[in-house]
Amino acid sequence: MAQTVNVIEIENVVKRYESGQGVVEALKGVDFHARHGEMVTIIGPSGSGKSTLLNMIGLLDTPTEGTVHLDGTDVTDFTEDELTEERRSKLGFVFQAFHLLPMLTAVENVELPSRWDTSVDRRDRAVDLLERVGLGDRTTHTPEELSGGQRQRVAIARALINKPDVVLADEPTGNLDQDTSDTVLTELTRLKDDEGVAIVAVTHDEQLLEYTDRVVELIDGRIQS
Ligand SMILES: Nc1ncnc2c1ncn2[C@@H]1O[C@H](COP(=O)(O)OP(=O)(O)OP(=O)(O)O)[C@@H](O)[C@H]1O
Ligand SMILES: [Mg+2]
Repeated sequence: MAQTVNVIEIENVVKRYESGQGVVEALKGVDFHARHGEMVTIIGPSGSGKSTLLNMIGLLDTPTEGTVHLDGTDVTDFTEDELTEERRSKLGFVFQAFHLLPMLTAVENVELPSRWDTSVDRRDRAVDLLERVGLGDRTTHTPEELSGGQRQRVAIARALINKPDVVLADEPTGNLDQDTSDTVLTELTRLKDDEGVAIVAVTHDEQLLEYTDRVVELIDGRIQS
């Protein structure tokens, strides 16, 4: 159930990129929020600023103007080290390039973000997460021994290992067939309903929109209302 507290809140964010070609204003004063237990999906045409916005929400890049609050804390002026710590402890990422390490098995990849964690149940948790995304029989396979959809599910399990408050997903069902896509969406729904995780997704997938609580449309760097 969506609660009233905003786990992520972005106000009046402007993002300008400067390059040899001049200045591109990718976000032109964007307000955005997501509550605990809410799934919000960002849609919009190519180049409208979706990935840029997801990068702001994920603390992977900083706004040119405006503020970012995570869990009630203003993180806008945090140092790189502080942002890294916020990301590690509160956010989970499922991005298009899965970034799985080829020499590690599925379960080792899932464990990786928790390697600083000394608690004994890391491996059990990683196996449990793989089981939940339907990969209980693939835990010792390496990424190259897995299909594209299976790798994507390993990436989803890995995003959950640190029990994040927010999961950020860029096209989480992008390369998946119908059945696998259902498995992933069911797991995301369970996370938000049972564990109060907020999910922010970017997608073109109409099926994902059926699972989402709210849709936000970006056009040319602005939210449409
Ligand atoms: N590092 C960068 N330097 C300069 N311009 C950039 C940079 N990153 C993005 N842009 C520009 O900012 C705008 C928004 O890009 P963004 O990647 O957010 O779009 P998008 O909505 O995710 O598109 P797509 O659906 O194609 O992934 C685009 O015009 C893009 O060319
Ligand atoms: Mg994009």
